[in-house]
Amino acid sequence: MDMSSSHWTAADLPELDGRTVVITGANSGVGFGTATAFARAGAHVVLAVRDIGRGNEAARVIGGSHEVRRLDLADSMSIREFAESWQGDISILVNNAGVAMVPRGRTKDGFEMQFGTNHLGHFALTNRLLPHITDRVVTLASGAHKVGTIDFDDLDFAKSGYGPVKAYGRSKLANLLFTLELERRLRQAGSAVRATASHPGYAATELGTANRPKFLVGIVHMAGRLLAQTPEQAALPTLFAATQDLPGASYVGPDGRGEMHGYPTLVGRSAQASDVTVARRLWEVSEELTGVEFPLS
Ligand SMILES: NC(=O)c1ccc[n+]([C@@H]2O[C@H](COP(=O)([O-])OP(=O)(O)OC[C@H]3O[C@@H](n4cnc5c(N)ncnc54)[C@H](OP(=O)(O)O)[C@@H]3O)[C@@H](O)[C@H]2O)c1
Repeated sequence: MDMSSSHWTAADLPELDGRTVVITGANSGVGFGTATAFARAGAHVVLAVRDIGRGNEAARVIGGSHEVRRLDLADSMSIREFAESWQGDISILVNNAGVAMVPRGRTKDGFEMQFGTNHLGHFALTNRLLPHITDRVVTLASGAHKVGTIDFDDLDFAKSGYGPVKAYGRSKLANLLFTLELERRLRQAGSAVRATASHPGYAATELGTANRPKFLVGIVHMAGRLLAQTPEQAALPTLFAATQDLPGASYVGPDGRGEMHGYPTLVGRSAQASDVTVARRLWEVSEELTGVEFPLS
């Protein structure tokens, strides 16, 4: 199997006619780029978004076969409603949505906002949808997972003190550990579904701009125009992780210097992101916190 992408692009996607792809946070940034490419390849794209108006606006631009459904990953009731109203197969689930570097906050269920949205929300969504999924679960991580640690005695930073960067790092490390343990459980259950992860490199998106002063957002966007990849380029690792014949738990990112830009390839992860014991414990803790269990065992 050739695991180097050379110059793999969205034009190399297989035909996806008749296949359903669910993408969380598809109205913006990397999710929007991912949804656009999947729609062009013929997939039926489901934009799972927290704001239907923003979802409809994005869907109009994306075109192709699509639908917009409401999903708030910071609200367990919304996740449950989304999953319980689902009928039919999902070929690919892309766990893309995320919040980054936000001030301390809590989800509707009282979890720290970044861990709660980025990890626990996708944990509950995936397990609830798993009986419908036929092919792949791709979860978006980040190079920031390398600054993350999992402290099971202080998951919401009550003891050590909250920091926006360390909370983001923890949530993105959790995304990789989730992929590792999901893949192990899928193999054990004899499932045909594979779990993989991706990161987009540096993308010019709305990430980390919520509630920031306008001048700061202006600077971030200007830097983005000069240095970052477009959302279309930044979607390539996810598209690759979703459709190529890769080993389970593969992690795909850009092949350029510092993994900021480039074409998709397999990339490395921190030692803690490869720790199967931490992955198992995080899974068990996440089941306890969300009340949602792996449905296939
Ligand atoms: N941009 C980068 O350089 C970069 C680097 C590494 C990793 N990533 C990862 O890439 C993924 C996509 O980020 P992006 O850069 O495309 O950011 P973005 O433009 O801010 O998009 C994030 C998406 O997530 C949605 N979202 C946030 N909270 C949600 C919730 N509670 N429920 C449902 N949807 C929610 C947002 O919805 P609204 O539009 O309603 O806010 C938006 O659609 C994230 O997982 C991020 O960690 C990005």
